[in-house]
Amino acid sequence: DQADARYLVSLIRSIPDFPKPGILFRDFMPVLADPRGLRIMINGLEAALPVPVDSFDLVAGLEARGFLFGPALASRLGKGFIAVRKAGKLPPETVGEEYSLEYGTQRIEIERSAIRPGQRVLVVDDLIATGGTAKAAADLIVACGGKVSGFSFVMELNGLNGVAALGDHPTSSLLTMP
Ligand code: PRP
Ligand code: HPA
Repeated sequence: DQADARYLVSLIRSIPDFPKPGILFRDFMPVLADPRGLRIMINGLEAALPVPVDSFDLVAGLEARGFLFGPALASRLGKGFIAVRKAGKLPPETVGEEYSLEYGTQRIEIERSAIRPGQRVLVVDDLIATGGTAKAAADLIVACGGKVSGFSFVMELNGLNGVAALGDHPTSSLLTMP
């Protein structure tokens, strides 16, 4: 409800000019550190799923902050969890994709065998800014033979139009941040 949303917003830390000048960095770590905040966040993600819980098989978390709550959410939903990693961390065989974000370029990878053909995947992360990371993750899931069911974010940055980068996939964000 609204009181819960206000409480979550009150826990988000905002750091000007990090990691680059001009970026107002929204940090959700204090939410994780707060028992009430953590419970509201996980309950909220479950309540705000962009698709029915029976319409996906796996939860995929994006390194690093999607790893901090993705497994807890997956467990709550009765799903398995898979990791979408920054380049060079996984043994072969991987598939990877370069993408650009608000503050630079990156490459992410996924283990080709992490997804069985036809498995349906919900992608989760702390935040969507330009959408470049989430879009790249979706491309990797498809390249591995999976299907993207939708995307769940804790925060959506207003004004960057990141959700538009995700095409027609159902998407939900708990909070929209200016
Ligand atoms: C941040 C954030 C998202 C991504 C969002 O991660 O956690 O994954 O950027 O930006 P985008 O929508 O413009 O792609 P970051 O790349 O800073 O990596 P980290 O979590 O490993 O610190
Ligand atoms: N916070 C966390 N991750 C991000 C941000 C932010 O403000 N912008 C782009 N990625």
